[in-house]
Amino acid sequence: MRRAIYPGSFDPVTNGHLDIIERGCKLFDELIIGILVNPDKKALFTIEERREMLHDALTEIDCGACRPLIEDFQGLLVKYAVERNADAILRGIRAISDYEYELQMALMNRRLEPRIETVFMMAGEAYSYVSSRLVKEVYQLGGTIDGLVPVSVEVRMRSKFSQS
Ligand code: PNS
Repeated sequence: MRRAIYPGSFDPVTNGHLDIIERGCKLFDELIIGILVNPDKKALFTIEERREMLHDALTEIDCGACRPLIEDFQGLLVKYAVERNADAILRGIRAISDYEYELQMALMNRRLEPRIETVFMMAGEAYSYVSSRLVKEVYQLGGTIDGLVPVSVEVRMRSKFSQS
């Protein structure tokens, strides 16, 4: 039984994340989507909203026999991975610019906890430029994010920005 943690901020989840989850499900028997609770980083969506968006978005993909769990965690990722008995940390890489940061994290995580492997998957080419940050910026400035995020996220974005 192979279990992986797919950690991230997911503020909000994008179709790029979903693509990694769907493909990651083919590699692992269990996938835990770990939302980082980071009080130092100002987020657009609350943890609960992010959890709900992820939950709704999962209905849009085919996870086969692997049923992804959605959790949140605080503190060190490797500590959480050990607590949850995970074998691996799953991360997506879009461009070479991601590589440096991801390499640093993977090596630090390996130093802290050699038992946990980091597994990288190349982002689907259709999403290689998509990030939560850009999606929020484009939407806020009136651009379309159609096809870049799950429907549930578009709906939430609309209500979030009509409130402010
Ligand atoms: O979606 P993100 O913001 O790129 O995800 C970053 C994340 C959550 C993977 C990273 O910030 C993280 O692992 N944070 C937990 C704290 C930690 O373990 N820091 C040391 C990393 S070497």
